[in-house]
Amino acid sequence: MKNYLLPIVCILLFVASVAGQDITRLEKIGDVASVSRNDNSVVLNCSDNSQIRITLLAPDLIRVRASFSKQLPNRDHSWAIDKTSWPTPRWNIVETASSVSIKTDAVEVVVRRSPLLIEFRDAKTGAVINADQQPLAYDAKGLLKSMMFDPDVGVFVAASKKLGFDEHFYGLGEKASRLDKRRSSFINWNSDTPGYVEGRDPIYQTVPFYLGLENGAAYGIFFDNSFKSYFDFGKSSQQRVWFGAEGGEMNYYFFYGPQLPKILSRYADLTGRMPLPPMWALGNQQSRWSYYPEAMVDEVVRQYRQRDLPLDVVHLDIDYMQGYRVFTWNQNRFPNPKEMITRLAQQGVKIVTIVDPGVKHQPTEASASRDPLTSQEQSYYVFNEGIARNYFQKRKDGRLFVPRVWPGESVFVDYTLPDARRWWGDLHRAYTDFGVAGIWMDMNEPADFVDQSGKNQIDVVSNDEGDNSTHAKNRNVFALLMARATYEGLERLQPDKRPYVITRAAYAGVQRYATMWTGDTNSTWDGLSLSIPMFQSLGLSGQPFVGSDVGGFMGRGNGELLTRSYQVSFLAPFCRNHKTIDGYDQEPWRFGKHYEDIIRKYLKLRYELMPFLYTTLETAHRTGAPLFRPLVFNYQDDSNTYNLDDQFMVGDDLLVAPILSPGITSRLVYLPRGPWYDYWTNKKYSGGTMIRVDAPLETVPMFVRGGAIIPKGPPMNFIGEKPAAPSFVIFPDAQGKSQFSLYEDDGVSPAYKEGLYRRTRVQASETSQDINITVDAPQGSFKTPNRILSFLISTRLLPRQVVLDGRTLSKAGQDGSGWQKSGDTLTVRIVDDGKPHSVNAK
Ligand code: GLC
Repeated sequence: MKNYLLPIVCILLFVASVAGQDITRLEKIGDVASVSRNDNSVVLNCSDNSQIRITLLAPDLIRVRASFSKQLPNRDHSWAIDKTSWPTPRWNIVETASSVSIKTDAVEVVVRRSPLLIEFRDAKTGAVINADQQPLAYDAKGLLKSMMFDPDVGVFVAASKKLGFDEHFYGLGEKASRLDKRRSSFINWNSDTPGYVEGRDPIYQTVPFYLGLENGAAYGIFFDNSFKSYFDFGKSSQQRVWFGAEGGEMNYYFFYGPQLPKILSRYADLTGRMPLPPMWALGNQQSRWSYYPEAMVDEVVRQYRQRDLPLDVVHLDIDYMQGYRVFTWNQNRFPNPKEMITRLAQQGVKIVTIVDPGVKHQPTEASASRDPLTSQEQSYYVFNEGIARNYFQKRKDGRLFVPRVWPGESVFVDYTLPDARRWWGDLHRAYTDFGVAGIWMDMNEPADFVDQSGKNQIDVVSNDEGDNSTHAKNRNVFALLMARATYEGLERLQPDKRPYVITRAAYAGVQRYATMWTGDTNSTWDGLSLSIPMFQSLGLSGQPFVGSDVGGFMGRGNGELLTRSYQVSFLAPFCRNHKTIDGYDQEPWRFGKHYEDIIRKYLKLRYELMPFLYTTLETAHRTGAPLFRPLVFNYQDDSNTYNLDDQFMVGDDLLVAPILSPGITSRLVYLPRGPWYDYWTNKKYSGGTMIRVDAPLETVPMFVRGGAIIPKGPPMNFIGEKPAAPSFVIFPDAQGKSQFSLYEDDGVSPAYKEGLYRRTRVQASETSQDINITVDAPQGSFKTPNRILSFLISTRLLPRQVVLDGRTLSKAGQDGSGWQKSGDTLTVRIVDDGKPHSVNAK
């Protein structure tokens, strides 16, 4: 939120200069002169003394690492990579005079010796999946130096791939762009970009991972290079896709699907899985820059409760601190945080506090109290300790680096130092001691009001595992390491609780430590429309827990926009209404009862769908498959989905097609093949076609996939308000079958990692004569108290009897079990005692 026009102009000029660069002019790597190999890799020694190492990590995961005109260095370190040791897959190598072929069970890498071109093929069919358009290249002559951020520390490196005539591109993390990135180009350079609009690039995050899809077969490329990087998906040439960076290594990982979910699962193997956040993180959240004093927070919560609106979390923005000093509390505004947090907890509400990386620069001789409630005006413990321990970033010449952020002159921690990360993490006791439930990390691009482009930081040195590297390399990983410090700190401070961290900036791998939101959006219809491809692309880039400020952050919204925003975000993992300091108030009730009533309906529905959402979240944790997905993820053989980004899926089973413009009350919705059910009317449709659907303000078009069983819970105003008593709504497929595996655990502790969870598979089949429902013996050691499970199915069948485990089920059993047919709906209730059960109705 500062003067941001200048950086925009600079960035636009810069983008123009790079997009116009002719990558073909760079020096190409030499031909293959000799080949050597070891257990899991092949080294190509080139005629120009360059080297390429091709490492076989898994049958479908191949790493390509090159160094130009010199040998590959021994040092091989990345902050993004989680898994470094892989069991060697089966592979073989065949050398001919003209090529080297390296083959696993899934991929054949064919290297042409001269010129050196690398091609990835499907090992079974021989089909070419991805092929170099020109050899790997580097800027030996300094052609691109003039446009580089720091020409002194890097040499531009690039890879070029053939652009398929019908190739589509997805992922690349957080980009203000549509879903399919074909014919666009992008830059990665973490940037504070308030009020960004579609096309603004770069914005906050860097995830140099993309997916390509052609002829129904998908691959992924992760260019693990933290320098300022570039991706061009056929924008500057009709033949070529290229990616490159202003330094560092040519180092990429090639993933072969051909199915998209398989690639994301491998990407999660490599860069880490999102741990499960606490279940309440899926609850509704409310924020404002800023709610203070304490009485204001109480009032917000009181309004929520009085209006019967669900709420789990309130966020405290920067004004809770003493003069923006992180790890302190303003005693006038929040005299007793513990008492306030306890009071809110009794109403089912948790507090999340913002923490920025900027530590107020406050040199003094006086000593300070470590008590975050005591005045730090004279002396500030965080600054003092960081200075004493030498944890703050310095410039090359040894001077302290002093950027300007909210507290005015500030300092940043060198998070590449393990001890500094530990110290930073431990500082969070200033929050956890009082019961703060989560940390919202902001401004961690890192933003610097002196100069948002990073030039003011150009000579800032980070320890970087002894490499003492500069900003050009470290900027894009700053947030990742701050997230790591925070997450690990929370884990230490509260080992029995799952950390909940939200971040604005990031690098690949951030999912191990933090969830994210899309920063300072606009309260506009364009902003709302953009949020869908952004969530989807983030999901396809390994970040499953995403959301944006509901209603938009900047500018003035209105009731219609806010309502339609909730009709997107009520199914986004992160559902938080937030507004800038000078914006018109935006809580759900601010535009009158008409809108509030509709918003309530969607918030209530979110909580009813919690068993479904939580199960889908656990799938994301385990498999890397995002909750909020583009249709192409589930239907990659269907070309109708390839650029569809005005509708989305949640998991495999819910399809939502929100309204994204004002005054519209119906829209076209694409339903992929198979039967679909209108969520509101239960009307059945046959997919593979576009349908027109009514969407008055109170209705978001929403469909359930035939074959699904949607588990629902009781209506609640916060997570845990009522005991779980799942009811399963059955939507048969064309064969009358459907199934779901419900995931449950304690929702708060990390014990799920040790098997303390319960997975319950439910199946149903319907014929014209009868309906069968089975509940398998649950997996996992998490026990639920005896409870009622309900099953609901819309059916023509009018059962004469319902049999449970071979015995007739009475209509209303003493124990709460029973069945009834009312209207079209057959409801069966059974006691869940943790044992398998089968129901037959005929
Ligand atoms: C940044 C954040 C925004 C926050 C503000 C004040 O603009 O993106 O969410 O409200 O800073 O902390």
